[in-house]
Amino acid sequence: MFKAIFYTHLVAVNLFLLIYLVKTILLVANKTEALAKFTKINKVPEMIISTLFLLSGIYLLTQIGTTTLLIIKIVIVMLSIPVAIIGFKKSNKALAVLSLVMIIAAYGLAEMNKKKIDKQTVDASVANTEDANYDAVKHGESVYTAYCQSCHGAGGANGAGGLDLTVTQTDHATKLERIKNGASSMPGFKDVLNEKEIEAVTAYVESLKK
Ligand code: HEC
Repeated sequence: MFKAIFYTHLVAVNLFLLIYLVKTILLVANKTEALAKFTKINKVPEMIISTLFLLSGIYLLTQIGTTTLLIIKIVIVMLSIPVAIIGFKKSNKALAVLSLVMIIAAYGLAEMNKKKIDKQTVDASVANTEDANYDAVKHGESVYTAYCQSCHGAGGANGAGGLDLTVTQTDHATKLERIKNGASSMPGFKDVLNEKEIEAVTAYVESLKK
């Protein structure tokens, strides 16, 4: 469900951007007739796309929760709408271009949001692999709490948007690969976690399996 809505959102955002890009180019190039024609043809599709874009966005928001960057992104998108409406109504090129730049900036922020994962503090007392009492599952649990719980939920089963980790069928190598490189809306952790942490969190995830 989450995955389907996530992709709907992605497709809607891209179509929306494409339509706006074409409209802005036509306006800037003084192709008034072509613009009027394009706007007319796209009236209904545009309405459907923006509705899908908005509804899927709201759903994702309820699942992922808000971050400062996400709020900035939403504010920029909201502000770009009246700018675009006025820009196209008054055939004001500067405003039309400004609204496009705003939407693209918000899009860029979304990508940044995905790539950048803040370093979290992991309980150092369980992280020493040289320790005679080192327990990978315990170490993994503290990594999990810091980085993964927000999506997969406490104990792996109560996730908002993450896959239920207590019923996964994937093998060790696939899990490692997913955690390192990410999958759909899950970011990759290879730049944030070291090998030991990735091994530990995988061991913890495997311990959750019922
Ligand atoms: C932003 C939300 C998010 C975060 C943070 C996150 N995950 Fe995920 N995770 C997902 C989603 C969504 C999927 C399902 C991806 C897919 O479509 O295959 C997933 C899939 C997985 C899978 C694959 C499950 C399977 O068997 O196919 C594993 C393992 C996993 N996550 C572990 C982790 C670990 C460990 C962390 C922390 C280091 C983490 N995840 C952080 C959202 C997240």
